[in-house]
Amino acid sequence: MTLDTLHKKEMKRILVTGATGNIGSEVIHYLSELNTEHKIIAGVRSIDRAEQQFSSYPNLSFRRFDFENADTFSAAFDAIDILFLLRPPHISEIEKFFRPLLESAKANGIRDVVFLSVQGAEKSKVIPHNKIERLIQELGLNSIFVRPSYFMQNLTTTLLPEIVERNTITLPSGKAKFNWIDVKNIGEATSKLILEFENYQNSSYVITGVENLNFKEVAELMTEVTGKKIKYRSVNPISFYFKKKKEGIQSGFAIVMTILHFLPRFQSEPAISDNYKMLTAKNPTTLRAFITREKSKLINANS
Ligand SMILES: NC(=O)c1ccc[n+]([C@@H]2O[C@H](COP(=O)([O-])OP(=O)(O)OC[C@H]3O[C@@H](n4cnc5c(N)ncnc54)[C@H](OP(=O)(O)O)[C@@H]3O)[C@@H](O)[C@H]2O)c1
Repeated sequence: MTLDTLHKKEMKRILVTGATGNIGSEVIHYLSELNTEHKIIAGVRSIDRAEQQFSSYPNLSFRRFDFENADTFSAAFDAIDILFLLRPPHISEIEKFFRPLLESAKANGIRDVVFLSVQGAEKSKVIPHNKIERLIQELGLNSIFVRPSYFMQNLTTTLLPEIVERNTITLPSGKAKFNWIDVKNIGEATSKLILEFENYQNSSYVITGVENLNFKEVAELMTEVTGKKIKYRSVNPISFYFKKKKEGIQSGFAIVMTILHFLPRFQSEPAISDNYKMLTAKNPTTLRAFITREKSKLINANS
């Protein structure tokens, strides 16, 4: 066997779903930075849009992939070795969408799946991530479950319009503490897990930051760093759900948002994990550093 064929044998094809979103784009970024030998493929609804978004990644390939269209599965999964799978926030019907998807992945020869789950997924059978984890195991696929805590980027995405328009954060969270993690840190840790799949497979990895803070504390920190007064208002979960519906958010997503922000009131504080440091030999981003980095977004429309 020549060196060339040996190299070709080891080359793996990695399909990244949700590639254009928060997590997927960071996974693509770190996979491209850390990896020299494998082929990275973004599975996307619109190849044209994705090509524009990733114009600075010359080695990235694209395949059409739609979670809600099973006709796209076989071609997207063809000759893939590792599937990075996430659940787009609006998809909560797991049997309808994820069973056919995972069955097709298996039928097309995929054995290894890295799934972006959520911290605590193992504790609740009703949340979609728990159902997907169990489905992956039921199908006998090799798996890595990445279970991150609460994204710092929620402040610069879903919560941002209210922050910039009204200087408030309204949630049904009371004084519950959340663990805050930078999506960049998740992308980097996940890329390590993908690239060393054999070493880490058939286990789950909680990825957290170093701080458990409630929203009052976060609003105070944002006020201090941005110089703009930001107030936290806690509301009951029913009015929160209807507020989100009124804003045009789909029922499934509004329910998940309500549960995600309300349930921690009845749970103990999130456990802090050192998996990020174990995987990258670095410390995770602090919330102060994140707010400083993203300051212009947070004050933008009001300034
Ligand atoms: N927010 C948190 O604090 C938190 C914490 C832990 C875990 N999580 C989990 O993280 C996941 C969300 O990750 P994220 O923030 O990266 O999501 P995101 O930014 O909303 O990105 C969703 C991605 O899915 C793609 N997508 C949506 N519908 C699709 C379809 N029908 N076919 C193909 N692609 C489709 C989108 O592509 P387009 O560009 O085509 O729209 C986009 O790339 C959720 O499962 C959530 O529960 C969130």
